[in-house]
Amino acid sequence: MKAAAIAGDLRVLGQLLRGAARTGSEAERMAHFYAGQAGDYDRFRERLLHGRAELVRHLAPPAGSRVVELGAGTGRNLDFFGDRLGRLRSVTLVDLCPPLLAVARERAAGRPNVQVVEADATRFRPELPADCVYFAYALSMIGDWRAAIDNAHAMLRPGGMVGSVDFFVSSPAPGGNRARHGWPTRAFWPRWFAHDGVQLSPAPLDYLLSRFEIVRLRERRGRVPYLPGLTVPYYVFAGRKRG
Ligand SMILES: C[S@@+](CC[C@H](N)C(=O)[O-])C[C@H]1O[C@@H](n2cnc3c(N)ncnc32)[C@H](O)[C@@H]1O
Repeated sequence: MKAAAIAGDLRVLGQLLRGAARTGSEAERMAHFYAGQAGDYDRFRERLLHGRAELVRHLAPPAGSRVVELGAGTGRNLDFFGDRLGRLRSVTLVDLCPPLLAVARERAAGRPNVQVVEADATRFRPELPADCVYFAYALSMIGDWRAAIDNAHAMLRPGGMVGSVDFFVSSPAPGGNRARHGWPTRAFWPRWFAHDGVQLSPAPLDYLLSRFEIVRLRERRGRVPYLPGLTVPYYVFAGRKRG
């Protein structure tokens, strides 16, 4: 690894060790947490935030779609659309963290169908109904994630697609074919991530499954940088608004 990359990792790890602020508004806490690592965010999260390309592949919005990402951060997920991006009617990236939005604006430059909006994911509404709304590692950081899911549901047209990829842990006895995580996983990862303001639980995925028709659900585990041998559970969910 090159010296600049090592220095970048050290900046990110330093912030992860210091943890998230416990006081202030959600926007202030996000700005405090990400300000010193915005420039290093994408490179480090490439090795941590698994399944984002897969989510975009499964959502596969057709040409002419209006797409919204809630909690879009640096806009990294734009790149996963590849050639498809230019054929979308619009992509709206919504976040409330100015340091990450500054990176998103650089990324969106020269892409006339991409707009970057500073707003709360629980309240933002596009002018016209969306064809596709998705979250990538955002529900676990949005305090009122239930309101954010309700808001995604409200802004979607009937039949529109919703997606989420995120860390989670299962309940002790999930039904059907769902993944079941043992006690060490259910005890360790929520505590580990809580330090950085990331809430891991079964609840957001369960709520998505109750609000939307399931198109695809995959429950997996992914590696964590600098924690060799450990894997954290994540899910990739694509659904459809009924009606
Ligand atoms: C782990 S980052 C994920 C960013 C991006 N989706 C990605 O895949 O790299 C979580 C994001 O959620 C944003 N966030 C947290 N609470 C929010 C809220 N209430 N409204 C909008 N964004 C929020 C944070 O600012 C941060 O950018």
